Amino acid sequence: MGSPAFLLVAIDGGAASGKSSTARALSERFHFLHVDTGSYYRAITAELLRQGAKAEDHGVVQSVLTHLELGTRVLGRSAQMEIGGRVVPEAEIRSPAVNAAVSHFAAIPDVRTKLLAYQRGQAEVARAHAFRGLVMEGRDIGSVIFPTADFRFFLHADPVERARRRAQEGQTDSIAERDRLDSSRKTSPLTCPPGALDIDSTFLTLPEVVDRVSAAIATRLPPAA
Ligand code: C5P
Repeated sequence: MGSPAFLLVAIDGGAASGKSSTARALSERFHFLHVDTGSYYRAITAELLRQGAKAEDHGVVQSVLTHLELGTRVLGRSAQMEIGGRVVPEAEIRSPAVNAAVSHFAAIPDVRTKLLAYQRGQAEVARAHAFRGLVMEGRDIGSVIFPTADFRFFLHADPVERARRRAQEGQTDSIAERDRLDSSRKTSPLTCPPGALDIDSTFLTLPEVVDRVSAAIATRLPPAA
């Protein structure tokens, strides 16, 4: 008998498209490690801001990045980035200052390069912790990080519905502006890669989205519980 399957699942989509809730639900259903790469871009942004870097000043950004030591902490089924041994607190990575700056830093090629190998390495973290797979969500997972993932999904939803979801979470976040920046940048723009399963979640409940995605995955791996 061969070794048990280890599945790589990529979920991309715009801000508040339902990626995080879907990815979290999949991680529970199939016992996958959940990686929210948006939280990684946010943690790096918080650190760059803390060190006084501005997105216009690529030289300073580059020199701060060179000295950042990235690690990973696994908490339950979710992976968190450590910078110099510290996990940047949730309140800091979801702050209005980070919301406003993150897409500007994420458009800088050096920032994306710093995260490329790190994000790919999360598959090894998942294997080392005996997960049955990795579900990674972001903007360029199915296009750049894992273009050969076992499953690639792209979630989209009407902007008004997405703004409503974000407001319901009590967050100040200009998602339309972030989507505009993320879709128009030169390096790894937000786009549905060819071959990915595109799901419009505007009129679907979260359980409906999760069922749709799970049905595809369950053809390869039975749910864990
Ligand atoms: O997913 P979330 O909305 O928290 O992501 C925050 C920001 O991080 C995005 O607006 C985008 O600029 C950046 N990001 C990215 N590539 C990813 C994940 C996030 O550029 N794979």
